[in-house]
Amino acid sequence: MNQRSSLTVFVVAASCVTASGFVHAANDARLDDGLARTPPMGWNSWNRFHCDVSSQLIRETADAMVASGMKEAGYQYVVIDDCWQVDRGADGRIIADPARFPEGMKALADHVHAKGLKFGLYTDAGRRTCQGRPGSYGHEELDAKTYAEWGVDYVKIDWCNSQGLDARTQYAKFRDALKQAGRPIVFSICEWGFNQPWEWGSQTGHLWRTTNDISDRWESMIQIIDRNAQYALAAGPGAWNDPDMLEVGNGGMTNDEYRAHFSMWAIMAAPLIAGNDLRAMLGDGRQATAIREILTNREVIAVDQDSLGVQGMMVTNYPPELQVWVKPLADGSRAVVLLNRASVPTTMTALWNRIGITTDTAIVHDLWSHENAGRAVSRYSTTVPSHGAAMLRIEPVRPS
Ligand code: GLA
Repeated sequence: MNQRSSLTVFVVAASCVTASGFVHAANDARLDDGLARTPPMGWNSWNRFHCDVSSQLIRETADAMVASGMKEAGYQYVVIDDCWQVDRGADGRIIADPARFPEGMKALADHVHAKGLKFGLYTDAGRRTCQGRPGSYGHEELDAKTYAEWGVDYVKIDWCNSQGLDARTQYAKFRDALKQAGRPIVFSICEWGFNQPWEWGSQTGHLWRTTNDISDRWESMIQIIDRNAQYALAAGPGAWNDPDMLEVGNGGMTNDEYRAHFSMWAIMAAPLIAGNDLRAMLGDGRQATAIREILTNREVIAVDQDSLGVQGMMVTNYPPELQVWVKPLADGSRAVVLLNRASVPTTMTALWNRIGITTDTAIVHDLWSHENAGRAVSRYSTTVPSHGAAMLRIEPVRPS
């Protein structure tokens, strides 16, 4: 098979088969509303700040998103997670915490928009949020309308306190309410993969969590990769598996581990939602620079955002835990991650016949060192740090 036809097979497979088992795209009524054609990129308050959210934090984060180069690198959504809401008014309207958000959500959204960014909020499809704030159950239409009035562009909808409710039904209610509200709003489904969202999520929202919450440790990040990988064929433009938000920069992993985390999210076409304190990336200290260089690595981001929209897959797993992952790209090249999960640095090899390169010669670009590693014939080897990754773009050279 030549390069072009092997790529076609991969792509056809991606659009015709779902993880639930060989359902054709014609039966898969994707939302297909033009939103999130590539995985959403932005920031969310939860991983770093939990309930400690405020207008001031969101304003400073939006400013830092611009000043740090994150916006220029493609990040756009600034999303407030749990704890911004305190009550409902007599009319049923959700009320933002007046002490923490004295200016109200509309003025805050205006500030975020004025920076050229987009604004997002969190709610819960059940009766209360995971932190016990008012949920949206029974108020779907009013909440969707309120968000649209405030200028919300992205909503993450959680699943705590939903006993006795059916996830597909409740999330579909929200989808319809958002549509009725008349503003384009990216819909992030967050029921942690409990109700097989890879089977119905694409008809309801633009992304769906596939796992429990990430924490800022290597083992947690790896466990999430292993789960998220199973649903690769459910993903595509406008519909993404969400292995949860990034922990890069939160301090619990080494920079090699963070590079591996970011590489893996990109090769899995995951939403890139930063979860660190963006203000801490502004200085020119060593760690601020290292984190900024990871999160704004354009070449790695380009893999995540590739227009073909294929979620990369593992193609080789040598003991002890040396894995090769590959993602076909729109221009016919392949993104490759060599993931070293073992505890010693190891030389790892990408073999053309395992990654779907059908020419003898290919040009290898290293996406972390930004070096052109030159032409290679049938394979490429490099040393990968323990708990680390190499990331490459491999471009076939056709005989002229
Ligand atoms: C759940 C979600 C998290 C976060 C918290 C907030 O655990 O999975 O991402 O939104 O709730 O309480």
